[in-house]
Amino acid sequence: MLILGIESSCDETAAAIMRDDNRLLANVVDSQIAVHAEYGGVVPEIASRKHLENIYPVVSKALADARVCLDDIDLLAVTVGPGLVGSLLVGLNFVKALTLIKKIPFVGVDHMAGHLLSVFLSKEPPQFPFVALIASGGHSSIFHVVNHTDFRLMGRTRDDAAGEAFDKVAKLLGLPYPGGPAIGKLAESGDAGAIAFPRSWLAKGSYDFSFSGLKTSVANHIHQLRADNTPLPVADICASFQEAVVDVLSAKTIQAGVDTGCRNIVVAGGVAANSRLRHAMRDASDKAGLSLAMPPVSFCTDNAAMICLAAFHHYRLHGSDALDLDVYSRSPHLM
Ligand code: KG4
Ligand code: ZN
Repeated sequence: MLILGIESSCDETAAAIMRDDNRLLANVVDSQIAVHAEYGGVVPEIASRKHLENIYPVVSKALADARVCLDDIDLLAVTVGPGLVGSLLVGLNFVKALTLIKKIPFVGVDHMAGHLLSVFLSKEPPQFPFVALIASGGHSSIFHVVNHTDFRLMGRTRDDAAGEAFDKVAKLLGLPYPGGPAIGKLAESGDAGAIAFPRSWLAKGSYDFSFSGLKTSVANHIHQLRADNTPLPVADICASFQEAVVDVLSAKTIQAGVDTGCRNIVVAGGVAANSRLRHAMRDASDKAGLSLAMPPVSFCTDNAAMICLAAFHHYRLHGSDALDLDVYSRSPHLM
């Protein structure tokens, strides 16, 4: 079976072609970062228009890269939420048009299901069941993953997502959007112990997250230094902030692994591209005797390969979707 997947939930227009044995034949990601960087974040109206411009060339390139044509495709897959509604509609309507013209079945996929299954794009995928941390621009959630389609939410952020905190702190420091990669790079030359930013643990035993207090603390620290005309120790601020985020993400994920009795831990989503988080998770899992799996860095941020994977398992269990399928901005069950 050959699957053509499309992802357009935020600022990446992506298309991938995958066989049902997980072999990836094409993976095209057209990022709009340069367009949105000027505004310091994603502008939804511009994102939809860019998806409209990009979707046909991106899908055409994926077909060319895989050396196949539309008639070879057995299943179409598209992200239907959560995300920016105008952007999601571009992908969904494109797929509906292909379904009508080519009579190929299609399935709508939850973006979070895609991130959860992206780990199967790694050379050493995990065994079920596992506990997964999904840390991205829109979410910081911990799931108990029973199989390819059974995901049980254990905790989520109560305010800012981890990636959102990186993006907001970067903005405070005058760093470019998206903030995660910029902060990660600067943190390499900073001292993670220089500033004692707060860690929000919430109630004992809670797997929820809260990063808005940390963000406010960084903002206050920066304002104080600016008021005193003290040069900002940017690398130290980046490293200390990053350490506070990593401490909480890793400790709660490991605790969830221990509490559920799952021997396997997964970390995915855009923030899982962060090398400090990857190292900290490796150390913490080793210490707790748990096995860790992560997608390759290039599959942590948004891509369509993970959408193909989620679609295949959805199709296997539930069959195809109908042409009246709609998009959603917030996930009804996976938030
Ligand atoms: O998964 P993703 O591409 O999109 C969403 O589903 O949100 O995640 C994007 C987020 C952004 O907030 C970005 O700043 C963050 O992931 N990110 C990182 C790194 N690379 C991307 N955060 C920390 N370190 C990184 N290296
Ligand atoms: Zn994402």
